[in-house]
This record gives sequence, C-alpha cells and structure tokens, in this order.
Amino acid sequence: MKPDTPSFHIGPIPIHGDALLSPMDGYSDWPFRSLCRGLGSAISYTEFVKAEDVLNRREKIADKLRFTEDERPLAIQLYGDDAQTMREAALRLQDLGPDFLDINMGCPAKTIANRGAGSGLLRTPVKVARILRVLTTALAIPVTVKIRLGWDDDCLTYPLIARITEAEGAALIAVHGRTKVQGYGGQANWDAIAEVAQIVNIPVIGNGDIKTAADIETLKEHTGCAAVMIGRAAISNPWIFARLDRTEVSPEQIRSTLLDHLERNLQFYGSARGLILFRKYAAHYLAPYRLPRETRQKLLTRETPAEFVALLDEIEIDGRPKTEDGNF
Ligand SMILES: Cc1cc2nc3c(=O)[nH]c(=O)nc-3n(C[C@H](O)[C@H](O)[C@H](O)COP(=O)(O)O)c2cc1C
Repeated sequence: MKPDTPSFHIGPIPIHGDALLSPMDGYSDWPFRSLCRGLGSAISYTEFVKAEDVLNRREKIADKLRFTEDERPLAIQLYGDDAQTMREAALRLQDLGPDFLDINMGCPAKTIANRGAGSGLLRTPVKVARILRVLTTALAIPVTVKIRLGWDDDCLTYPLIARITEAEGAALIAVHGRTKVQGYGGQANWDAIAEVAQIVNIPVIGNGDIKTAADIETLKEHTGCAAVMIGRAAISNPWIFARLDRTEVSPEQIRSTLLDHLERNLQFYGSARGLILFRKYAAHYLAPYRLPRETRQKLLTRETPAEFVALLDEIEIDGRPKTEDGNF
C-alpha cells in the first residue's frame, strides 16, 4: 500500500492509520489526545458529553468540546437516551465543526446505563434504530457508534445492534468486546468483534485489552477489523501509537514526552489546574519505574510546574521499566 493510501474511510473521510486513542472520560482531553495524535493515533475522539449538557450546561463541558485543526479527523462523542434531545444536541455539536459524531452505546456507569443511555441502549434495539435514523437524517456529517457486546451474557445484542447500525446509515461501528455487566473485568471477546466484522460492510474498529504494540496486528488479524482503539494501555504508553512498547522507549523520549504533555496541559488549562490534572498521567508514566513511595508522593504534590520539573530532573529514569509492558 502506498503511504498516502487511506487505511479506510468513515463515510467520505479518509483515515490514515489503523490504531487510535479510545475516548476516555477524564483522560482523552485535548492535551492527551493531541499528544497521542502526534505519536500516530489515527483519529481523535473527545470524551463523551451528555445531550442535556450540550443544550443547557454548555459552560460545564466547554473544555471537552475544544479541539484543534491538527487533530482532524476528529469525532465528538455524545450520549443520551432520547432521540429528539440527541438530535438538538447533535445539531449544535455539528456547528462546532467535528468531522463526525460518535454515539456512546457502551458506558457501563449506573447513572448513565440504568437510565437507558450508554450501554443501556443495548437493551433497547428499537430505540437505537430510532436514534440513529433521526441523527443520520438530521446531520450532514457521518454518524458512528461505539458499543459493547450487550448488557450481560443473557442479553448479547451486538449482532442485532450491528445490523441496525449499518441499516440506519451509520458510517462505522467500534466494538469493545465486553458486556456492560463485565465492566472492565475478565477478557475482551475478540471472536465477537470478528463476528461483527463479518456481519456488516461498514468499517469496524476493534477494542479491548490491547496491551502491546504487537497486539494491534494480532487483533486486526484475528477479527478482520479496519483499525483498533487503545484505551488504558495508552495512558501509560502513548508511544504504542508509534508501535513501541514501554521497554523500547528511551529515557530521553520518556522525559521529552512527559514535558511535552505537561506543557500542553499548562497551555490548555492554565498553570495551576494544568499541573493538578497532569498528576494522574505522571503517575502512569512513572509507574513502571516503581519509584520509592516518598519520591513519588513528593513529585505528585509539587505545587508549581517549575518545582515539578526540577524534581523530575533529580529522579533517575533509567530506561528499564520494572514491568514488561508498563501497563497499570
Ligand atoms: C477511565 C475510562 C474512561 C472511559 N470513558 C469512555 C468514554 O467517555 N467513552 C467511551 O466510549 N468509552 C470510554 N471508556 C471505554 C474505553 O474507550 C475502552 O472502550 C475500554 O477502556 C476498553 O479498551 P482498553 O482495554 O484498551 O482500555 C473509558 C474507559 C476508561 C478506563
């Protein structure tokens, strides 16, 4: 394949690359998304936003909706359970200029799923059809979905939901190979992802339990999906998008990426909030080194970016993480 040949398309949008950062509430904000995009993530997905908040509490979610041109192709992810409310919200989101709109049908949080949104939608295929019909009719940009396999083992609706998704005009389906009830436990079922890829003719993105760079190819080969989404593993190893495992990342790369990420946080959120929000990522970056508790604690409680960087300079990052893949 020529380097400029797209890997696949989302509607008319060419996608270059086959691995991308998963939408993750509290993690896939602009600083981290754009960092991962720079390292090779093929698409940016925002953290999910609630339809009612888009309509009534825009200031609450303003940061989640900000993106930059270099992130394109970019999806805003929306969740909700009422077709008309979602339509109104989707039209407002479309005005912000995303390349496509993604509908969350996977969130297992009780407050969301029990009211029928997120993974709650997997129990109501008729409602899924109605929502997608309304959205694909109303919007000029492609609509995509991200699902789990179903509510639980007695309610595995993914084959039906996949068919509905395609029939109602959605342009792509991302599948996390777990049920709602599984949460993040057990193992993702890659066979089920392969089944979806067999059922539909729109592109499928496989998701769940990618831990190493080699897993990207393994999941693609196992399922025939067009691309893979990487969530938790990317938090401690964003270099996975450059096809590197943590053991292959040099201490210089770790240091420069960490500082780059911090800089993006400070730029996006301002100095005080930027540093506070960066601490959780710093903890993940440094987790494989098993720093003495005291040092770790000290680093993660520095009050200014300058103090943080000064202490980081004193810590020896020796390039030999203590765990194989560096995941948490
Ligand atoms: C902290 C956290 C937040 C998440 N937030 C979202 C979200 O906003 N939207 C979504 O579709 N999935 C969300 N997910 C699910 C991930 O996108 C992904 O499907 C899941 O983590 C499985 O992939 P992984 O094994 O690579 O982590 C979240 C996962 C985590 C761990």
